[in-house]
Amino acid sequence: MTDTLSVSLWRGRGEGAFSHYEVPRQASQTVLDVVTHIQRHLEPDLSYRFACRVGMCGSCAMTVNGQARWTCRTHVAKVVGADGRLEIAPLANLPVIKDLATDMSGFFDKWARAKGQFQGTATRHDDFARVAPASPERAAANAGIECIGCAVCYSSCDVVAWRPDYLGPAALNRAWTLVNDVRDVQQTERLRAVAGDAGCHACHTQGSCTERCPKGLAPTLAISGLKRTVARLAVRGKL
Ligand code: SF4
Ligand code: SF4
Ligand code: FES
Repeated sequence: MTDTLSVSLWRGRGEGAFSHYEVPRQASQTVLDVVTHIQRHLEPDLSYRFACRVGMCGSCAMTVNGQARWTCRTHVAKVVGADGRLEIAPLANLPVIKDLATDMSGFFDKWARAKGQFQGTATRHDDFARVAPASPERAAANAGIECIGCAVCYSSCDVVAWRPDYLGPAALNRAWTLVNDVRDVQQTERLRAVAGDAGCHACHTQGSCTERCPKGLAPTLAISGLKRTVARLAVRGKL
């Protein structure tokens, strides 16, 4: 193991370039620790984003040695070879604001386009809804609910790169959790929103999103569920 890491780090906007830094190697060091070291000791104006440092907020994702990852939970030892080289860049498929900070607004706008907001009818005066834990709908919603909005899947998706209007794995995964929420009342609008050309049918099902999701979610399965539901309702003339 080398004593220092040889780090190439993206500086500037989309037309920026990699700068090079030597960073002391530490035990149990994460990629986010490396970026923080560079900002605190070498480049005070380095822009990057993080909040929780424990894998909950979804704000720290970057491209690490060519692959999107959450950096606060990625240990250097997992991604660096014997040569100690580390390349850190902003997430792909998102505009770069500066350095490692990307503009996430397009990503979250797609959640809104996919009707990713819960809409119920109950008021504070109603009793709690009771949804059986073992029901198929509850199980399907539970399977996707732990999304932290990190955009690792979105950044890893070839279809997003090819056609920027594609809703992408995270927004579609969110839509599927709500399609399975029996309390929600905008199901027809949601299924129409995800049924178009830039929706679930654009997914090629090769599964980069599912392979890379740091929370172990399976957007590919969620999208398959949307495809089946949309097709079933379309055949019945209900969409
Ligand atoms: S399976 Fe679909 S959503 Fe996931 S990365 Fe591939 S095209 Fe994108
Ligand atoms: S589905 Fe996984 S990779 Fe995609 S935004 Fe949610 S947590 Fe991140
Ligand atoms: S800093 Fe919150 S998930 Fe990494």
